[in-house]
Amino acid sequence: MKTFSIIGCGAVGKTVGRLLQQSGAVQVQDILTRSAASAQAAAGFIGAGRPVAGFDQLARADLYLVASPDDAIAACARALCRADLLDPDTTVCHLSGSLGSDLLYPVKELGAQVASVHPVKSFADPAVCVGDFAGTWCGIEGDPQAREFLAELFGAIGGRVFPIDPRFKTVYHAGSVLVCNYLTALMEAGLRAFHKGGVPRDTALSVMEPLVRGTVDNIFRAGTARALTGPIARGDAGVVERQLDALDGFDADLALIYRALGRVAVELSRERGQASAPGLAAIEELLAARKAGAS
Ligand SMILES: NC(=O)c1ccc[n+]([C@@H]2O[C@H](COP(=O)([O-])OP(=O)(O)OC[C@H]3O[C@@H](n4cnc5c(N)ncnc54)[C@H](OP(=O)(O)O)[C@@H]3O)[C@@H](O)[C@H]2O)c1
Repeated sequence: MKTFSIIGCGAVGKTVGRLLQQSGAVQVQDILTRSAASAQAAAGFIGAGRPVAGFDQLARADLYLVASPDDAIAACARALCRADLLDPDTTVCHLSGSLGSDLLYPVKELGAQVASVHPVKSFADPAVCVGDFAGTWCGIEGDPQAREFLAELFGAIGGRVFPIDPRFKTVYHAGSVLVCNYLTALMEAGLRAFHKGGVPRDTALSVMEPLVRGTVDNIFRAGTARALTGPIARGDAGVVERQLDALDGFDADLALIYRALGRVAVELSRERGQASAPGLAAIEELLAARKAGAS
């Protein structure tokens, strides 16, 4: 059976390590972290694996899973090269969403295969994550042979693997930040606007809940263009003009968000085909115009 070793074994390393070991598709060999105690604890969690204290103690493995924090991946790759363990049949993989597998180029120069697999999941508690990992989408990029091997392994633990263009990996990763973290920030922006209109936060959240949940359901059922409603979907330039005036007088950041997302909404509205072309052109002009008096 093929073997894998884990370099850096925190939240993600423990979860993926235990699942891979339990899958029977591959056998865990060494576990290397910064401290002997955490390597020992990780081996305990995975239920197998030899805790090691340095790269010089690593044995040859078919796969080295670099699950260290992002800023330690390059150093781990260089240390792995110095350990003299790599050959053309070795695969080295990191798990970062924002960094490409090209970060592992020293390993590639020694002939090994490189790839990156990004599980799109928040790994807070490994004990919980091993139970709900199945179905997790995993973005993959890297060398063809490594991709094939890793797609097989992540598929065996319930991952749903999809390809990423390595040239734009950071843009891809920003997409998750936009729909997850920035959705939260957008909710806060909406709450501030409600509050200005005299609606307390608790009431505002209750009012927003069916609106937001309904919109999200519509997006996943029918797609973004068909889910778009409101003044831009109708091509109602008068409403957009009044709202821009009001936001300009209330909060510059909210007005900026309204203008930027409004431009994306105009594109969706065109695709949707409900609004008139002149109405959308007028909205586009309003959204592009700077606030009167702004430098
Ligand atoms: N957390 C998430 O939700 C998530 C989601 C998707 C992808 N990822 C990616 O998964 C990777 C790991 O993230 P994580 O959240 O699991 O990190 P983590 O919980 O902070 O664990 C990092 C592990 O790396 C070890 N480590 C730190 N510096 C090291 C070094 N120089 N050499 C060897 N080992 C080192 C740590 O050792 P000690 O145990 O001794 O401190 C620890 O075991 C990152 O690339 C991250 O971007 C994370």
